[in-house]
Amino acid sequence: MDIQVLQKTISKLLAGDKGILAMDESIASCNKRFEALGIPQTLEMRRRYRELIVTAPHLDEYISGAILFDETIHQQVTDGKLFIDVLLEKGIVPGIKVDLGTVPLAAFPSERVTEGLDGLRERLAEYYRLGARFAKWRAVITIGGDLPSSSSIYTNCHLLARYAALCQEVGLVPVVEPEVLMTGDHNLYISERFTRRTLNFLFEELYKHRVNLQGILLKPNMILPGLTSVDQSDMITIADTTVLCLLETVPAIVPGIAFLSGGQSPEQATARLNVMHKRFKHSMPWKLTYSYSRALQQPALECWKGETSNVPAAQQELVKRAALNCSANRGVYSA
Ligand code: 13P
Repeated sequence: MDIQVLQKTISKLLAGDKGILAMDESIASCNKRFEALGIPQTLEMRRRYRELIVTAPHLDEYISGAILFDETIHQQVTDGKLFIDVLLEKGIVPGIKVDLGTVPLAAFPSERVTEGLDGLRERLAEYYRLGARFAKWRAVITIGGDLPSSSSIYTNCHLLARYAALCQEVGLVPVVEPEVLMTGDHNLYISERFTRRTLNFLFEELYKHRVNLQGILLKPNMILPGLTSVDQSDMITIADTTVLCLLETVPAIVPGIAFLSGGQSPEQATARLNVMHKRFKHSMPWKLTYSYSRALQQPALECWKGETSNVPAAQQELVKRAALNCSANRGVYSA
């Protein structure tokens, strides 16, 4: 592994105030979002939607990297150019989701484990050949009752570490995504406890698997109360609890942290990122940015509705959200 190759990619991904656009929804997830808006769930509609995204004017001013899905990495815009080449021409680094989604963890009802290690070395080499320079693997940790179990946290972190080591071997930057889910009625402090435990396990596993921490990006959840919690926290508590937890668990040598949005509204995801930058501008050793899917895309998707005539307006919505998140990265966002 040549660490300089990984670092070159990372410095492009962390350039300026830019963030990463996650457009790697699986076919099922993309269809679910289409269904909610009455958009036909076909291969061609998914292609058109992704074309809208990659061709959005000025996207490259705010977005440094885009995470594709296997279906999307092979697709083309209407004039025949591959999406990946459209991104490369704009200077946006193409990435690829390489996990194969989650399945129930045997013997642990209600918990999930991410699949995709079998044949991963060969798939990573192929994605590198196609032009991808970073990868993503998402693990989910569920809170509720006596969950999460230590087994679920350990197993998911172990898999993340093995994935990360394989990525670095082939020259892809691993984006390591342990998502402690927002679903549930737990409060912020429960989320903090399990996020902390997960990140502690994760960095121990990364260390054991000889993953070079200078050559990864972490994609964690913000620390938030559960979606149905009666105990909703204010913005400053969320920002402080999140950054303090990351300061305690993520080694300073890690170059960057890019949050997932996880079910927050676009406005919340931007405003909370902004407060973190405002309050911790000079005390964070790593770069802090965003790698949102829903919080960047949802307004654009709602505007598009599957209609060609809505494409320019939908592209504006997408680029607007990206620009607002860049303002949040400077701590100067206002709603
Ligand atoms: P959300 O921002 O919608 O949580 O998606 C991020 C992501 O990449 C999930 O894997």
